[in-house]
Amino acid sequence: MKRSGRLLGDDLIQTTTATGQVVERLATLDERSRSEVEIYACGPMAMLAATARLAREFDLPCQVALEELMACATGGCAGCAVRVQTPDGPAMKKVCVEGPVFDAAQVF
Ligand code: FES
Repeated sequence: MKRSGRLLGDDLIQTTTATGQVVERLATLDERSRSEVEIYACGPMAMLAATARLAREFDLPCQVALEELMACATGGCAGCAVRVQTPDGPAMKKVCVEGPVFDAAQVF
C-alpha cells in the first residue's frame, strides 16, 4: 500500500497486489487513523466480498464497483441484476443503470 495522492483534501492510500494487502495496511494504522478510512474497491467478486468482510470487521464505510456481464447495458434485459439488501428487504438491482457502485454492506 502506498500514499499516492490526495482526494478532496484527504490522504489517498492505494493498494494493489503489487503494493501489499489492504488487511496488513489497516492493521498498522492506529485507531484514530483507521477511523478516518473509507474503502473504495473494484475487482473480482471474491476480492470485493473479502473487502466487504474487512470493512464490516473494522466498521469502515466501503463502496464496491461491481463487474457484471452486460448484454444491453441500458436496463432492458436484467442480465446484470444482483441481489442487494435494502431497508425494505432484499431487492434486485441492475448494475448497468443502478450501479455499478454500491454500498458493500448492501451487496455482501
Ligand atoms: S445489462 Fe441489460 S439490464 Fe443491465
